[in-house]
Amino acid sequence: MKYHEEIMHRRTFAIISHPDAGKTTLTEKFLLFGGAIQVAGAVKSNKIKKSATSDFMEIERQRGISVATSVMSFEYQDILINLLDTPGHKDFAEDTFRTLTAVDSVILVVDSVNGVEEQTRRLMEVCRMRDTPVIVFINKMDRDGKNRFDLLEEIEKELSISLHPMTWPINSGKDFKGVYNLYDKNIRLFTANTKADEEDTLAISDIDDPILDTRLGSPDAALLREDVELVDGVNGELNVADYLAARVSPVFFGSAINNFGVKEMLDTFIRIAPPPQSRDTSTRKVDVEEEKLSGFIFKIHANLDPKHRDRIAFFRVCSGKFERNKYFHHVRLDKDVRFSNPYSFMARDKSIIQDAYAGDVVGLFDTGNFKIGDTLTEGEDFYFTGIPSFSPEIFKEVINKDPMKTKQLEKGLLQLTDEGVAQLFTQFGGTKKIVGCVGELQFEVIQYRLLHEYGASVEFRALPFYKACWLTSKDSKKLEDFGKFKQVNTGEDKDGNMVYLAQSEWFLNTEMTNNPDIEFHFSSEIHKSA
Ligand code: G4P
Repeated sequence: MKYHEEIMHRRTFAIISHPDAGKTTLTEKFLLFGGAIQVAGAVKSNKIKKSATSDFMEIERQRGISVATSVMSFEYQDILINLLDTPGHKDFAEDTFRTLTAVDSVILVVDSVNGVEEQTRRLMEVCRMRDTPVIVFINKMDRDGKNRFDLLEEIEKELSISLHPMTWPINSGKDFKGVYNLYDKNIRLFTANTKADEEDTLAISDIDDPILDTRLGSPDAALLREDVELVDGVNGELNVADYLAARVSPVFFGSAINNFGVKEMLDTFIRIAPPPQSRDTSTRKVDVEEEKLSGFIFKIHANLDPKHRDRIAFFRVCSGKFERNKYFHHVRLDKDVRFSNPYSFMARDKSIIQDAYAGDVVGLFDTGNFKIGDTLTEGEDFYFTGIPSFSPEIFKEVINKDPMKTKQLEKGLLQLTDEGVAQLFTQFGGTKKIVGCVGELQFEVIQYRLLHEYGASVEFRALPFYKACWLTSKDSKKLEDFGKFKQVNTGEDKDGNMVYLAQSEWFLNTEMTNNPDIEFHFSSEIHKSA
C-alpha cells in the first residue's frame, strides 16, 4: 500500500471568487501558514488591472505571473497541499473552469459587502456540475457588510447550495469583534493582522459564560447568544459526508487582509477536505489507488519567449506514479512519450522533479504534442471525462490579412485553440473560420500572439451570434438536413462535432421547438464517455 500513504498525504484544491473578493490575499495567508513564503506581498495578484486591459505589456506580465503561480505546493500539518490558481479576470473564465476539473475541492471567497457576484455564480455552476465539495469563506468582515443572515440566505438561494456555519461573526465593520467558533465553542477576538496564535482566543465554558459580557459588552453578548441558539438549533454538527458529497458547504467568516478567521478555515480544510479522488474515464472508473499512472492535461501555457514555441502543459496525476524519463502512453497520438525535465511548483519556484503521485500537478515541456484533455497512461486507452467546454459569448470571423502566411495562421489558430485560449469553428459550406471567446480581451491576445509568435496578421469581423450549442441526434439524417438548411448558422468545432450558432435566444428557442429530434447541448465534453 505504498501509494495509499502518498495519496492520503495530499489535498489538491482551488480558491475561487469574483475578482476583488480577496482570493489573492487569502492565497497569500495560506502560503504564509504553510511556510512557503515569508513575507506578505510575495504573491502577485494575477488580475489584469482594470485600467490596462489593452496593454500588452500587462498581458505578458500576467502570463509570467500566472505560470509562476499556476500551482502552489506547500506543507501544512504534514499534509501536502496543491493549491491551483485560477485567473480572476472574467475573460479568462474558461481557464478557470478547466482548472476546476483538476481539483478535488474548492474554497469559495465571497465579499461580505457585495455578496454573490456574477463570477461567483458561474464558478459555482461548474462546481455543482462536478459535485465538487465547497468551503465558503465570507471575507472583509472588517467592512460594513450585509446582515449575516441575509447574506447566508442570498448565498444559499443564488448558488443553490446549503450552508453550514462553522464560525459566527460578532458584528461587522468597525464594530467587528471577532467570531464564535461553533465547532470548538470558543471565541476568537478580532485584532488586525493577527498571527492567529492562542493569545486571541477566549476560552469560555459555554455560550452563557459571563466573561462574554465583560469582553464583548452585554448587548453584543446577548445578540451572539441569540444568533448561536438559532444557528446551532438549525444546523447541529457538520455532517462531513454531506460536505464530501457536495450537499452542504461549511462557512467561515473572517478578514483575509487581517489574517483573521483564516487559520480556523485552513485547520478545518485539513481535517475534512477530500484527498485525491477516483475518476471516471471513457471506459471505466480509475481508482486513485491503482499503481499504474494515469492523468490528463487541463491547462496549457505558452512560453513567454515568442522565439520558442515550447509550452508548458499542466498534467494532473490521477493514479499511480509519474516518473521522470519514463515512457508513458499518449492516448490521442497513440505514441510513447517521456519527459526529461518535468516540473513541480513550490510557491514561485519551479524545480525539476523525479516523481509525482495522484493529486500532484506536473508541468511538462511541450512542443505541440498536447491539447487540453489529453490523457497519459501506461498503455491503456481511455480519456478522462467531465472536462467540459462551454459556449463562447463573442464570435468573430478571422480575416487573413496576409495570404502568404496562411499556413502559419492555420498552425497558430490550431495551437492557440489547443491551449484553450479560444474555440475555433468552421462554418459549413465554406471555409470561414470563426473564433469564439468569452471576452474581448482574448481577441486582442490572439491577434497579438498570432503576429508575434506565428508572423500571421489577422483582423476580426464581428458576427451576430451569441451562443454556440453542440448538436446531437439519434437520427443522423435529421442532423444532416438541419446543417443543409441552416448553413449560415451551423458548422463544426475542431473535433468535428456539429454546432449551431444562435443569433439570439429567440432563434435558439424556435429551433429547439421546431427540431424536437435534435438535442441542443450548452457545453461540450471534450471527451464523452463511451
Ligand atoms: P482577488 O484576488 O479576489 O481579486 O482580490 P485581492 O486579494 O486582490 O483583494 C482585493 C482587494 O480587497 C485588495 O485591495 C485587498 O487588499 C482587499 N482585501 C482583501 N481582503 C480584505 C479584507 O478582509 N478586508 C478588507 N477591508 N479588504 C480586503 P486593493 O485596494 O484592490 O489592493 P491593494 O492595493 O490592497 O493590494
